[in-house]
Amino acid sequence: MNDQDSELTASAPELTALDLENLWHPLVQHRDLAGAPPRCIDRAEGSYLYDAAGNRWLDAVAGIWCVNVGHGRSELADVAREQMSRLAFAPLTMSHEPAIRLATKLVDLLGYPSKVYISNSGSEANEAAFKIVRQYHAQAGRDGSGLGRYKIIARYRGYHGNTLGALSATGQAERRMGYEPLVPGFVFTSAPDPYREETDCAKALEQTILREGAETVAAFIMEPIIAGGGILIPPDDYLPRVREICDRYGVLLILDEVVTGFGRTGKMFGHQHWEVEPDIITFAKGIASGYMPLAATVVRNEIFDAFSGPADGMNHFRHINTYAGHPVATAVALRNIEIVEREGLVDRSAKMGEFVLRALAPLKAHPNVGDIRGRGLLVGVELVEDRASREPLSADKAARVVAHCAEQGVIIGCTTNTTPGMSNVVILAPPLTISEEEARTMVAALDAALYKELPANDSGPSRE
Ligand SMILES: Cc1ncc(COP(=O)(O)O)c(C=O)c1O
Repeated sequence: MNDQDSELTASAPELTALDLENLWHPLVQHRDLAGAPPRCIDRAEGSYLYDAAGNRWLDAVAGIWCVNVGHGRSELADVAREQMSRLAFAPLTMSHEPAIRLATKLVDLLGYPSKVYISNSGSEANEAAFKIVRQYHAQAGRDGSGLGRYKIIARYRGYHGNTLGALSATGQAERRMGYEPLVPGFVFTSAPDPYREETDCAKALEQTILREGAETVAAFIMEPIIAGGGILIPPDDYLPRVREICDRYGVLLILDEVVTGFGRTGKMFGHQHWEVEPDIITFAKGIASGYMPLAATVVRNEIFDAFSGPADGMNHFRHINTYAGHPVATAVALRNIEIVEREGLVDRSAKMGEFVLRALAPLKAHPNVGDIRGRGLLVGVELVEDRASREPLSADKAARVVAHCAEQGVIIGCTTNTTPGMSNVVILAPPLTISEEEARTMVAALDAALYKELPANDSGPSRE
């Protein structure tokens, strides 16, 4: 071991002490970490994470639903090393081949003429989208009215990121509290939740547009399937009707495919389940499988054209991120997409998703399981206190189920701090490369956790 290595190979207790002293972790109450410090992951391979002592966990959430091609791909490490040696950095005020090729690949995959603005995270990709739609309407306006349209309609329970603009479009009260007031001009409407409500949400969108005054509404943003908000899959007519309504009122449709892109739901892109094309689409996560931070905002040429104007004018997009279009990140993303295609991971996600849903089906017998739903390898199990009333399971009981899975060596997700009272949807979104045996292990862990932590009573079959 040389001196450089030694910093990375401190003993586990030493690392934990340094962690608790210096590192601020997301989404957790630090007061609780002393008794239960975060798992310190040392390496990963395929579907598994390992700590330095060799303990391993099945990563049933693919990082944060991003490691689509699985962990430990040396091919991607090689691409990164080669690109870093050749050209580690050049901003996109100039140009370079990896960014050009990635943009070309995205446009080819989407199949309609577009321009690709590259950034570093899902939040940034959405921020860019919001600025683009406002500037677009200020400069061109589809209806020819020019100025006036600035409102962005988003949905309750949707998530679009953590920066102030993206958070302003996030319809999850617990992510917003304490940071409000947020950016003006964001308005909310309901998202379909077929398990709990029969609301006609497309109609609700139309009403919202009309009540706000269509001539003030710039865009509507939605996730094709709400991910972190609880795996909410809309009825089949929802997205086609949304497209129609947006067209009718001159409202641009932004699809946030940060989670649903690149095979996660069993299609290359989530919107392809409904054959509806957006005006703007945002990507992150699976675009580079988490091997590098990278995101993209893809904008139809009709919208891009409104940014044309004299060189000394103000019509161009006045926006920059230093690392946007980073050569290493774009080179890695390009190869990552190649792997998704070469290994047929989109089809695999569809097939394994069906396999997982079939394997989960017997859990419907458990009285605290209200609903099981999924598309591809984006699967949710909604837990309830009581099936008849559908009252959401309490957050601490759901957390016990998650913890029990981790004790069995399987890391699953759960809605956390989203809509008040709704920390009850367990999420399974493993790498798209997961094997049948690993999928069985994942389901068996959830099954055991449910029966152990929420023992079935007289109203259901008991394992005890
Ligand atoms: C649908 C969706 N959009 C946007 C984001 C924000 O992405 P990031 O965390 O990369 O900023 C997320 C993150 O989970 C997301 O799930």
